[in-house]
Amino acid sequence: MLKNTVKCLQRYCTKSNGSFYVTTPIFYVNAAPHIGHLYSAVIADAICRYQNLLRPNNTCVRLCTGTDEHGTKVQQAASAHKIPVEQYCNDISAKYKNIFQQAHIAHNDFIRTTEDRHKAAVAQFWRCLHTNGHIYSAKYSGWYCVSDETFLTDSQLRLDESTGIRYSLESGHPVEWSDETNYMFRLSALQSDVVYWVKQGGRVRPKKFEKILLNILNEPLPDVSISRPSNRVHWAISVPSDETQTVYVWLDALINYLTSTGFPDAKYRNHWPAKVHVIGKDILKFHGVYWPAFLIAAGFEPPQQLFVHSHWTVDGQKMSKSKHNVVDPEEVARIYTMEGLRYFLLREGVAHSDGSKFILVFS
Ligand code: ME8
Ligand code: MG
Repeated sequence: MLKNTVKCLQRYCTKSNGSFYVTTPIFYVNAAPHIGHLYSAVIADAICRYQNLLRPNNTCVRLCTGTDEHGTKVQQAASAHKIPVEQYCNDISAKYKNIFQQAHIAHNDFIRTTEDRHKAAVAQFWRCLHTNGHIYSAKYSGWYCVSDETFLTDSQLRLDESTGIRYSLESGHPVEWSDETNYMFRLSALQSDVVYWVKQGGRVRPKKFEKILLNILNEPLPDVSISRPSNRVHWAISVPSDETQTVYVWLDALINYLTSTGFPDAKYRNHWPAKVHVIGKDILKFHGVYWPAFLIAAGFEPPQQLFVHSHWTVDGQKMSKSKHNVVDPEEVARIYTMEGLRYFLLREGVAHSDGSKFILVFS
């Protein structure tokens, strides 16, 4: 039975007098939403509804979701469809908004990283990192995985001897060699701060993912590239005072959580730090290592908790836009109703392990 998401939520949500700010990941607009994206949104929505039941007159419960629209992955998806990238983003972002509306996700904000308010937040956040001495320029070379939007080390790669092509061990997607001058973030200097944050207790739930995160943090953290040359990645936010570089899409994306609270306006303090970031386990490293490090370095409090869920799978593989093995929530809802689908996701989804039952029921 559901050792279930709902029970987990009850256990992990704490009462709060101030704001209760909950977020979902912001989703890449490289393809239409599937059941996995809706799952994150339904969990976040359930957390907020539960908080509202506890404190019916409190208006401080806040839910933000949205779309992640910059970077090579989106740039390439738009050109593969021969659609101007702005229009492509508008079209796919609208699909997310639409499915969340149909599913009664009661979000207070739907953020798009192409909005001006977000560009202003990213520029200001960059300045904070720079002023605090956490950014330097360096020649950087390494294997870049466009699908994961990240550089990978040799130990994170698999070499196919017959073709000479290297693949990300994590996602199975190919990587490409890149050799360029980038801005780097002194992640190595933040390692002990991040470990301290994780060890505060209850930061990462279910506990299984806290262990995984602490394992990652057992190894020395290398500094991380936080910009790309504009001539390679043009569909991105420019680095303040350097038009030749654009901001790394993951730094850009993570800052959305601050943008939604009004940052850089001081009113962001009404909601920050976030109470819970709901995320899939695929993006644990970005939220459990990079994000607290970026925040601490820039002078902000890290989030109070990550609620991490596992994946819906198909034939043992993660359901994924790029693997074309997705289940369309609209199609399922036509048969079982959207309420039925919401109930199924929360009742049968188990945060700490992958689920494939979905396919048995609906195929
Ligand atoms: O990673 N099962 O976006 P993304 C369960 N833009 N959940 C799933 C899933 C599956 N098979 N597939 C996706 C990105 N998800 C970045 C995030 S946040 C600052 C930036 C859900 O479109 C799950 O929440 O690849 C996962 O973490 C997220 O969608 C990844 O969506
Ligand atoms: Mg993904």
